[in-house]
Amino acid sequence: MMRIVHLSDLHFGAHDPALIAPLIDAVGRARPDLTVISGDFAQRGTRPQWQQAEAFLNALPGPQLSIPGNHDIPHYNPLLRAFAPYARFRRATGGPDEPVWRNPRVVVAGINTADRWQWMRGKVSTPHIEGLGRAFEGAGNRHRIAVMHHPLEHAAVTVDPLMRGADDLMQALPGMGVRLVLSGHIHVSHIAPFRDDPGILFVQNGTSLSTRLRGEANVFLLLELEGQNLRVTRHYATPRGFVAAAPESWFLEGGVWLHAAPRAARAQLPR
Ligand SMILES: [Fe+2]
Ligand SMILES: [Fe+2]
Repeated sequence: MMRIVHLSDLHFGAHDPALIAPLIDAVGRARPDLTVISGDFAQRGTRPQWQQAEAFLNALPGPQLSIPGNHDIPHYNPLLRAFAPYARFRRATGGPDEPVWRNPRVVVAGINTADRWQWMRGKVSTPHIEGLGRAFEGAGNRHRIAVMHHPLEHAAVTVDPLMRGADDLMQALPGMGVRLVLSGHIHVSHIAPFRDDPGILFVQNGTSLSTRLRGEANVFLLLELEGQNLRVTRHYATPRGFVAAAPESWFLEGGVWLHAAPRAARAQLPR
């Protein structure tokens, strides 16, 4: 059993400070093998915001894999923005902006879809795709999980364009054996197979700490992966701390992700 906590869109500087301690506590109780943080650590990429983010990361238990989001690029410092947009990210997270984490069960690889010049929209280019391919080489029968801030698909109908290069990456993922993609950015959680490829599960997290909510409470995800089965549990912020909602179970069958009917619904199915 592999346990992954997925945090996203912390937005230090536009966060709810009352949620920091409950979130650290809840992540600790989830006993993750790995915590993935899928970008937007800071609101404007300023030094004080990154200092708060770093203190938070230092308080989390266990290994972490972090990738930048569009808000992590320094907003008010044109020199840093142009020449070292991820220096503060690297200092605070202690890792590269395209990290890879491996254990005997999984290979998790992140790409940096934030872009100085495509600030909101994000971008995937050929080097990203080639880098992901290299990260998953030799993964054998381990699960291959790709992490990126911007989503590869919009969960709901929208006029916003997808990030540049999303289609190219979507087409490349099956060849890499990727079955799971973790994203953020939208501030609404969404878990479903991709419409264009139901063999890959799209796990989009909401925001774990930001005050900019889009109709869903602050949330983090716990992913429990065992063989071809995945259980995802949303943990929502409440006045009593982060509380687990009913888990969703998914399983891979015939190369396609299927949603296991909740026990109550299954009991009502005709026999
Ligand atoms: Fe965000
Ligand atoms: Fe974002």
